[in-house]
Amino acid sequence: MKLTDDEKAMLDGRRGKAHQKAMELLVRYGEALHAERFVDTNNVAGVPGTSNMFLEKYYTQPGDRYDVIYSLFDLDSDEIIEVPRITVNSCHLQGGVDPEQWQTLGAKPEQLRISQAGETSAASLGIKILKTCTPYLAGNVPKQGEHCACMESSAVVYCNSVLGARTNTEGRESTSAAMLTGKIPDFGLHRDEGRLGTHHVVVETAVESVMDWGLLGYYLGEIVQEEVPVLRGIKHQPSLIKLKHFGAAAASSGGVEMYHIPGVTPEAHDEAEAFGGHKIEGSLRFGAAERRIAYDNLNCATSRDIDFVMLGCPHNSIDQVWLIASMLEGKRISPNTQLWVHTPRAIRQVADRNGYTKMIADAGGVVMSDTCPAISRHLPKGVRTVATDSAKQAHYLPAITGVEAWFGSVKDCVEAALTGRWNGGI
Ligand code: F3S
Repeated sequence: MKLTDDEKAMLDGRRGKAHQKAMELLVRYGEALHAERFVDTNNVAGVPGTSNMFLEKYYTQPGDRYDVIYSLFDLDSDEIIEVPRITVNSCHLQGGVDPEQWQTLGAKPEQLRISQAGETSAASLGIKILKTCTPYLAGNVPKQGEHCACMESSAVVYCNSVLGARTNTEGRESTSAAMLTGKIPDFGLHRDEGRLGTHHVVVETAVESVMDWGLLGYYLGEIVQEEVPVLRGIKHQPSLIKLKHFGAAAASSGGVEMYHIPGVTPEAHDEAEAFGGHKIEGSLRFGAAERRIAYDNLNCATSRDIDFVMLGCPHNSIDQVWLIASMLEGKRISPNTQLWVHTPRAIRQVADRNGYTKMIADAGGVVMSDTCPAISRHLPKGVRTVATDSAKQAHYLPAITGVEAWFGSVKDCVEAALTGRWNGGI
């Protein structure tokens, strides 16, 4: 790779051991990608130095626990270095434990202790503890053209497509190294040519609700995989929430990191601009039949008895929490069902202040922050059948935890929580 003087200084160790180890890792990574240079980044989102019970048992070397994990695991270093204060604007994405509802979540005291110790260390180094997969809902909103390094796939597709910022889906190692150096390899979505459309998607059926957007994303993600779809036929300006669910679904069934909706997303005013002269590699349509296929692929459950309802993947915005609280007001969920509503920690505080957390609690539900069942691997005990308004969660939970899942609208899911039965459908 062609390095600047600043990058050479880090690699030579003139900026200290931590920067040297981070640059060594980034150069190896960049060379593997055939990147020719780095771009500067001042917006990094990852899980730096985060530990868990497995890592605690695996890395038993003496020394400060945070330095040990950051050095040996994050930076793949063969020696333990002291992690210095982070000068690059950096935030911590979702974790595995809700510090308030950890017992309801089913976490062990030791898991809470490890999580909180890591959080204290990260915060002391200047890393913002957002603890969410939707950092753009909690104050981290990169601007158009800004180079970022983000690890969470649903946030990556949102940042690239909706905000026009530039990031690939990074890993823990590259984000932890970028937090120290402010550098990330210049490839893929950092480059103009990597952002051009490849597939044409003609939407021939009404796509209006959050659920519709989830189905559209789930369908096209499976077909285009990691390519860049360009959508035609969207007849309204979708909200942040719809685009959040759309991108997360497309990044789950496939690996979509970028899409264009001319007239909606910022980098393409029309289809010619979206494709930029790029050869169209594939065309697909999304009509009633395709919508049905996506719905059937997501809804594989056999029992309509619902033990558990999960709302908030990607983490809910405050208006989503308000909507759920309003639907539950004055009602009580079924004694056979549990309801978890997931949101960023900062938004739970707003929900607390506005009385939404209490409205949900009065109905028998719980507002959780920091994590979700797919990440924490915690579900209420004995759960067999889950209902969720998230295509992403319906995709992952059966594979990760062995439960069955129903996917539907937030109304279908709240109804399932109240009755203990699934009556959703399309
Ligand atoms: Fe977030 Fe968990 Fe979904 S961390 S994107 S709620 S899988």
